Amino acid sequence: MPRTAIIGGGARGIGRCLVRRFLERGYRVFVFDIDGEELKHTAGTHLKKYSDSGALVSAICNLRDVEDIRAKVKQAAEFLGGRVDVLINNGGIAAPKWKDGKTMADPATLAEWQAYVETNLTAPFALSQACVPYMAAPNAAAGPGSVPGDEKGTSSADLNEDKDVEDHPTNRAGRPEDIADAVEYLVNAGFVTGQDITVDGGALIKKS
Ligand SMILES: NC(=O)c1ccc[n+]([C@@H]2O[C@H](COP(=O)([O-])OP(=O)(O)OC[C@H]3O[C@@H](n4cnc5c(N)ncnc54)[C@H](O)[C@@H]3O)[C@@H](O)[C@H]2O)c1
Repeated sequence: MPRTAIIGGGARGIGRCLVRRFLERGYRVFVFDIDGEELKHTAGTHLKKYSDSGALVSAICNLRDVEDIRAKVKQAAEFLGGRVDVLINNGGIAAPKWKDGKTMADPATLAEWQAYVETNLTAPFALSQACVPYMAAPNAAAGPGSVPGDEKGTSSADLNEDKDVEDHPTNRAGRPEDIADAVEYLVNAGFVTGQDITVDGGALIKKS
């Protein structure tokens, strides 16, 4: 029986690379994302052969809406035969600065704060909680360093800039495949659990 995975935020970037990796490994995969256009491209064009074979299904889901998460997990679990082997909480938002040059002193930044907390903190909890009844034993990984997107036809080497070389002792920015390697390792490492695995080319160590 094929193993099964739910991947949140899987329509583009690292998430799409993870979707591809798990499909290549023979998993049945259900993808959530809020971005309908990217989702359509990923499931209907980029990974069409897996959609056609019935290994891949996707649904629009707003990870900031707990009721939506619960309904979509139920739908996914039905597609996956009532069993979720792997959940990847990849969906998220990140920006190094407040929008429009604002500072924390501006009350308008509270809405951005709430978006961060709901998307990056509450959503993984709610998604994990909804999946628990369908899982045997969850594993976890966290903290990618700087990773450019998963665009078709663009080699990661082309995206490497001087600053990437400067920031990373590995002399390059991360690749979505680096995250997929770590996730795949964790999923298959039966005696490793509850660990934060830092996949950042040494960037954090260099900063400290
Ligand atoms: N790329 C990096 O360098 C880097 C570094 C540190 C952390 N991360 C985190 O890793 C994850 C993937 O990074 P990425 O660069 O591929 O990001 P990305 O922005 O390209 O992809 C994130 C995906 O999450 C989806 N998403 C966002 N909000 C959502 C919502 N409310 N509901 C459903 N889907 C939603 C987006 O539509 C998108 O498809 C993100 O959580 C990001 O914050 C990335």
